[in-house]
Amino acid sequence: MTRHFLVDTDLTQAEQAEVLDLADALKKDRYKHQPFAGESTGRKTVAVIFDKTSTRTRVSFAAGISDLGGVPLIIGAGESQLGHKESVADTTKVLERMVSTIVWRTYAQAGLEEMAANSSVPVINALSDDYHPCQLLADLMTIREHKGKLAGLTLAYLGDCANNMANSYLLAGVTAGMHVRVAGPLGYLPDPRIVDAAAARAEETGGSVTITTDAAEAVAGADVVATDTWVSMGQEAEKAARQELFRSYTVDADAMAQAAEDAVVLHCLPAYRGYEISADVLDGPQSVVWDEAENRLHAQKALMVWLMAHSGLTGIPEAR
Ligand code: CP
Ligand code: NVA
Repeated sequence: MTRHFLVDTDLTQAEQAEVLDLADALKKDRYKHQPFAGESTGRKTVAVIFDKTSTRTRVSFAAGISDLGGVPLIIGAGESQLGHKESVADTTKVLERMVSTIVWRTYAQAGLEEMAANSSVPVINALSDDYHPCQLLADLMTIREHKGKLAGLTLAYLGDCANNMANSYLLAGVTAGMHVRVAGPLGYLPDPRIVDAAAARAEETGGSVTITTDAAEAVAGADVVATDTWVSMGQEAEKAARQELFRSYTVDADAMAQAAEDAVVLHCLPAYRGYEISADVLDGPQSVVWDEAENRLHAQKALMVWLMAHSGLTGIPEAR
C-alpha cells in the first residue's frame, strides 16, 4: 500500500517517532541514505509542485532530494497544465509513471486527496490551506533537540488559530503526546472537526488540547511558544483587518514572561516582526527558529525515505 503524508495524523505516534529518529540520523550523516539513486525504484526524479510561493520548502526539498541521490523537478505556479488545462487526476496519472514521489504545495486539501487517490507513489503535502505537516516534523525535531523529549511538554500557539499551522500544531503536537494550547480571537479558532480529531488522537497518546481566547491562559508555564503570520497566503486582501484583530496575541516579552523560564520559541517563517512576534523575541536567546528552518531539510529527507520504504519502493532503513 502506498503511504502518503497529507495531514499530520497520517503518521501514528510510533511512526512519527521513527521519522524523527531518522531525521536525527540524517542530520548527523547527511548522505546516509540514497533511495533515489538506488536500483530499487529506477526513478531518480521527484516532482515538487508549487501553487503558492516558497523559500524554505522549495530549497529544503530541492537540497534534500539531491542529498538522497535524486533529481528535484521544481514546477512553479502556472508552469504546468495542472489546475487550468488538466485535472489533478489526469496530471497525477502521468506523473506517477515517471517520478518517485510527488510533493505539492497548494490551496485545497481536496486536491491533495485526489492526487493521492490516483498515485502509486507517495504524495506529500508541502502546505495546503488546511495543514503544513512537513513544517511540524521540523518543529517537533527542533523541540526534541532542545528539550530532549516531546511527550508531556506543553506547547502554546498564539494568533490565527484557524490556519494551517494551528491545525498542524494541534494534530502533530498531540500525536507526539504533547499538551497543545491554542489562543486566538473568536471567529479565528480551529474548526471543531480539527479539535475533535486532535482530541481523539490525544486520547491515544496522553496529550491534550486546549482552545481559548485568552493568550495568558495558553502561554502560562508553556515549554514551547509558537506563532505564525496573521495573514496567510491567499488572505492578503484581509491584511489590515487581521492585523487589528490579532493585536493582543503577539508573542512578545510580556507573553514570554508568563511561559516557562527555559521556554523555546518557534516560528515557521517568514516572520513579520512587530505583528505576530516582536523583534526582540524572534531574534532573542529563546528563539530556535533558525534550527527549525534547517530542520526542514533533515525532517523531509527522513519523511521521503520513510514513505518510500513503507510503500514497498525501497528497503526499510535503520535510523541509527
Ligand atoms: N515555513 C515555510 O514553509 O516557508 P516557505 O513558505 O518559505 O516555504
Ligand atoms: N500560514 C502561513 C504559513 C507559511 C509557511 C501561510 O499559509 O501562508
